[in-house]
Amino acid sequence: MPSNSPASLKSVRSQRCGPLTGCIDAPGDKSISHRSLIFGGLASGVTRITGLLESGDVLDTAKAMTALGATVEHTGTGNWSVTSKDGKLCNPHAPLDFGNSGTGVRLVMGACAGAGVSAQFIGDQSLSSRPMARVITPLGLMGTKLEANRNRLPISMTASKLNAIKYASPVASAQVKSAILLAALGAEGETVVTEAQSTRDHTERMLALFGVKIDVSRNDRGLTARLVGPQTLSACEIAVPGDPSSAAFAVVAALITPGSKIQINGVMDNPARTGLYTTLKEMGADLVLKPGVMKAGEKTIDITAQYSALSGITVPAERAASMIDEYPVLGVAAAFARGQTAMLGLDELKAKESDRLAGTADMLRGNGVIVDVNENSLAVHGSDGAPAAGGGIVQTRHDHRLAMSGFVLGLRCTDPVTIDDASMIATSYPNFFDHMATLGAPMESV
Ligand code: S3P
Repeated sequence: MPSNSPASLKSVRSQRCGPLTGCIDAPGDKSISHRSLIFGGLASGVTRITGLLESGDVLDTAKAMTALGATVEHTGTGNWSVTSKDGKLCNPHAPLDFGNSGTGVRLVMGACAGAGVSAQFIGDQSLSSRPMARVITPLGLMGTKLEANRNRLPISMTASKLNAIKYASPVASAQVKSAILLAALGAEGETVVTEAQSTRDHTERMLALFGVKIDVSRNDRGLTARLVGPQTLSACEIAVPGDPSSAAFAVVAALITPGSKIQINGVMDNPARTGLYTTLKEMGADLVLKPGVMKAGEKTIDITAQYSALSGITVPAERAASMIDEYPVLGVAAAFARGQTAMLGLDELKAKESDRLAGTADMLRGNGVIVDVNENSLAVHGSDGAPAAGGGIVQTRHDHRLAMSGFVLGLRCTDPVTIDDASMIATSYPNFFDHMATLGAPMESV
């Protein structure tokens, strides 16, 4: 357990500090960590994982896979093994509780459908308010029997025989694509999922590592994945690369804090995830990206970030899927840029752990930053490097990324910024406060 474990915290404060310096290793990627456990539970043989992100969300997925019959063992820090009974899942005895995690619940729903399992799915207050029709509809078209509470959790699934489908996803969501592909493993025939805007492709890449035959083709913007079922998975070894979404907080903190220069090692460099880094470079950020080792079939980079004079830009809607989790912290960077930063195509931001479009706007406004928010866009008026007023309370709304973004904002405000509930940070980045303290930005518990 990290020494400043967010899980045991409630309200914290951040304030201006000296230059950030030093070097940290990026925490394991959340998306790859969930998939390692789920795919391991579907695979015959022993899947060994190193560098797993041991966060609340991922541990909830580990518990769910155990309840579904897999043997999930912790063999050392970040080291896990998953052994399944001939690659088969069994009906759990109690509802599967996914806490705060949309990725966990939606992917395991797909895996259970494909494995012919009957199960109930539940989650916390935030997860229980998130839209589930996006997975209920395609899984229902494949023949899964599902009962839901007005398209929200709790959901009951009854085992059924599945058929393959051709599905054009109406939302840019890797969770939806992944749920369908996992269900397709147990369906007779070719399932085809098409995305008008391609989303993170970890499921496609990792299924191939687990021996599944899957065909992926791309055009200018979109992606088509084809999988002929039924297919089985074979265990493999996964070294989890660092999470670009988590690394973003320290990177932005260094860019906005005068005199800073930091390094973050081992960050996954997948174009479907690195839209924020492209955006920050366009804004004038001094980022040096040095190639590192390959992990789980993904390139990695070591990132050096220095305090930079940033300029506002327009971030195009087509880039949204590649940085969907990074808009709150981009809002913080934009608050200190010269001129206006306009972020377009943000519909999906409203379907996250909270309505992150409203949450980001409120976080910035509440601390003296001028913003214009519309149905699906956000414009932030930057201070050209001057500190923001601060002094506000950031309402985190059960949302870890709003909490961490609020903390970073406080580092460049005249008056301290209070985060009303930092405990949710444990869902994705349990070492966050330790890492920020290592770099020179300690938090104060209030
Ligand atoms: C994820 C997909 C994204 C992202 C989430 C992780 C995944 O959600 O926001 O943090 O691992 O597939 P959507 O697929 O709903 O966009």
